[in-house]
Amino acid sequence: MKPCLSYPYAKILCFLAARLTNAAIQLNLDDDQSIKQAAGRAAYDMMTYYTGNETGDTPGNLPDPYYWWECGAMMGSLINYWYYTGDTTYNKIVEEAMLHQAGPEYDFEPQNQTKTLGNDDQAFWGMAAMTAAETGFADPPDSHPGWLALAQGVYNRQTSRWDPTCGGGLRWQIFPFNTGYNYKNSISNGCYFNLAARLALYSGNQSYADEAIKTWDWMWNVNLIKHDTYHIVDGAHNTDNCTSMDATTWTYNSGVFLLGAAAMYNYTNGSALWKDRVDNLITAGKKFFVNDVMIEACEGGKCNVDQRSFKAYYTRWLAATAILAPHTHDNIITEFQTSAAAAVRTCTAGDTGTACGLQWTQETNDGSLGVGEQMAVMEIIQSNLVDKAAGWRSDIKGTGTSKGDDTAGMDNTTSADHLFGAAVTTGDRVGAGFLTALTLIGVVGSSAFMIIGE
Ligand SMILES: *[C@@H]1O[C@H](CO)[C@@H](O)[C@H](O)[C@H]1NC(C)=O
Ligand SMILES: *[C@@H]1O[C@H](CO)[C@@H](O)[C@H](O)[C@H]1NC(C)=O
Ligand SMILES: *[C@@H]1O[C@H](CO)[C@@H](O)[C@H](O)[C@H]1NC(C)=O
Ligand SMILES: *[C@@H]1O[C@H](CO)[C@@H](O)[C@H](O)[C@H]1NC(C)=O
Ligand SMILES: *[C@@H]1O[C@H](CO)[C@@H](O)[C@H](O)[C@H]1NC(C)=O
Ligand SMILES: *[C@@H]1O[C@H](CO)[C@@H](O)[C@H](O)[C@H]1NC(C)=O
Ligand SMILES: *[C@@H]1O[C@H](CO)[C@@H](O)[C@H](O)[C@H]1NC(C)=O
Repeated sequence: MKPCLSYPYAKILCFLAARLTNAAIQLNLDDDQSIKQAAGRAAYDMMTYYTGNETGDTPGNLPDPYYWWECGAMMGSLINYWYYTGDTTYNKIVEEAMLHQAGPEYDFEPQNQTKTLGNDDQAFWGMAAMTAAETGFADPPDSHPGWLALAQGVYNRQTSRWDPTCGGGLRWQIFPFNTGYNYKNSISNGCYFNLAARLALYSGNQSYADEAIKTWDWMWNVNLIKHDTYHIVDGAHNTDNCTSMDATTWTYNSGVFLLGAAAMYNYTNGSALWKDRVDNLITAGKKFFVNDVMIEACEGGKCNVDQRSFKAYYTRWLAATAILAPHTHDNIITEFQTSAAAAVRTCTAGDTGTACGLQWTQETNDGSLGVGEQMAVMEIIQSNLVDKAAGWRSDIKGTGTSKGDDTAGMDNTTSADHLFGAAVTTGDRVGAGFLTALTLIGVVGSSAFMIIGE
């Protein structure tokens, strides 16, 4: 694609030309059927990357260069796809992937993934399970725990990892041998906060709300949430008591706290405290829009594979916020309409002719193609149906149908971190061989989200 010129006249012509001819994905926002078809197109192109349903491949894995977590994030977006469009095409794939990756302890800590298993990675799968419970996604067979129990499994595992350095918070990495063990990042703490708040809203159990409050307070005290602007920076190192920070502000950090705050706002029946936090995060989030079209912090520069998917999560969390905190609704919907209209104009590339690009503000395909790009466009399209969707279910409302288990994930005899713990403390049991193997091949871990200290 030729980029649009920057002269005003040429720009207008390019814009009109793109509207009339280039838009390989047609989208009429006044027509639900058109929105569903457009989302279906983006979903189809996204799923051309997925091989986990092929014979001999592992369900719930995307091929290189995608890390394990992104497949969990993708399953979450496919649950939303079904929820908003009613299209069940991918539901079997989702169920199979989720149940396979939940692992033997049903807490999304599969041993295969130890190298890339940070708290945030695990939580993206946990939040997908939570979404399944909230939206009433078809229950797994009775022989398996329910979606709610899988989300609780992740929550319980993470509760046990609350860490005393820097006065609290979760570390990024779970295992000391992974790079990033000394990093306390906003997304790991944000996912835990988000999950805790949603579990509180679903179950009515104050214990979850207490953990959400504790996490928010720690983020605030350590200054990862900026007191003047409510911008949320990426993270801090515990080696200097979390005083030096990576100050990048990503959409998904803002979004994960926004939805958690909206869930707490709703859970507290509209408290002034949580309303204030929701409103401040919405205001802070204005930096992620140019004329109501969403942009990521790295756009214009180089976005890595992970970062290219972040707008998908910001979108999905904004959509849920619009419902749980109705006073934010109209503003969010305007951003969805404008962003979706811009985003589909980038969907003109690839073998299918409908693969989407990264920078929606360009209104033309920028050549950046992949799972993240597809997921983000799919979410921004389908989120325009948020008002048509049946509301989230919950036990409080009496509409929750997903089976829960308060003690999920606590019987951790084969979870990856238990094996590691057993190996260092007792030097025997099955964990020892596992640890030795890792040491011998010199695993140093790879950063699942970003290179530390770059
Ligand atoms: C895997 O799923 C895709 C849809 O995303 C489908 O086109 C393909 O046929 C499936 N493969 C198998 C072996 O079922
Ligand atoms: C772990 O890896 C093995 C061997 O590749 C595979 O058979 C199994 O399905 C994987 N398990 C998970 C949970 O990914
Ligand atoms: C370390 O940081 C925490 C959280 O900001 C703070 O409460 C604590 O006083 C700090 N400790 C030292 C020794 O500075
Ligand atoms: C919200 O209101 C309901 C109904 O009045 C009440 O049962 C519930 O305890 C309230 N929740 C909180 C967290 O105050
Ligand atoms: C909580 O969310 C529901 C939608 O699930 C909404 O109808 C209700 O107004 C919200 N409560 C508050 C206090 O905004
Ligand atoms: C509330 O949740 C906590 C934490 O999971 C659990 O220990 C407790 O049993 C739950 N309480 C009720 C009344 O369900
Ligand atoms: C495993 O579970 C037990 C009991 O719930 C708990 O005391 C222990 O700390 C857990 N171990 C790890 C490594 O999380």
